[in-house]
Amino acid sequence: MSSVQALATTGRFITLEGVDGAGKTTHLAWLVEYLKSRHVPLCVTREPGGTPLGEALRELLLHEAMSIETEALLMFASRQQHLQSCIIPALNAGQWVVCDRFTDASYAYQGGGRGLPVEKLAMLEHWVHSDIQPDLTLLFDVPAEVSFERVRGARSPDRFEQLDLAFFQRVRQAYLDRAVADPLRFRIINANRAIDEIQLELAEVIMSYIQGEAHAS
Ligand code: TYD
Repeated sequence: MSSVQALATTGRFITLEGVDGAGKTTHLAWLVEYLKSRHVPLCVTREPGGTPLGEALRELLLHEAMSIETEALLMFASRQQHLQSCIIPALNAGQWVVCDRFTDASYAYQGGGRGLPVEKLAMLEHWVHSDIQPDLTLLFDVPAEVSFERVRGARSPDRFEQLDLAFFQRVRQAYLDRAVADPLRFRIINANRAIDEIQLELAEVIMSYIQGEAHAS
């Protein structure tokens, strides 16, 4: 039995992060196919969203004007529902949960981008999920100028995609600071390269994660 098959019986929580325009959606699709081809039982989900209530909150979060505090509270409300009704049951059932954004996005966007004090976010994090963290977080990193230019051309940009270059720079920096502070959980992927180079690195990262886990268990 390969190490991937051996691990497939134990749930893992993998999150993907990065500033808008970093190419996360493309890499997520590739990663999902890669894991499926290795018969890893998967639950693929996203934040904000992932449940009927969460998807309704996502619509509001992406399109309705609101205060910074309301924005943070709704992100965590969506997250609480998502954890209780989707993420935790899937992990308990032995699935690998691949989640497009999680709490690091709140620190990067509401904290770094919007300027909400980190202490407030830490309180919400402690309330909503003091006992669970992602096992692995892939941070797709590109210079803010690159991601900003990519989303500027979007046909119907959402509230976050309409923000200025300085916002993108603060979000990117907040992500990098979190990655540096937690090197065991984070892998920073340079996403400012050809797609096949990035996918090669992703495959290596996933294989070495799996092998490291297999040795640790
Ligand atoms: P995303 O799904 O990456 O957007 P898209 O479908 O355009 O690829 O994320 C939606 C937006 O939500 C993104 O701009 C970041 C923002 N966001 C936060 O501000 N805080 C959070 O906690 C999360 C999860 C997302």
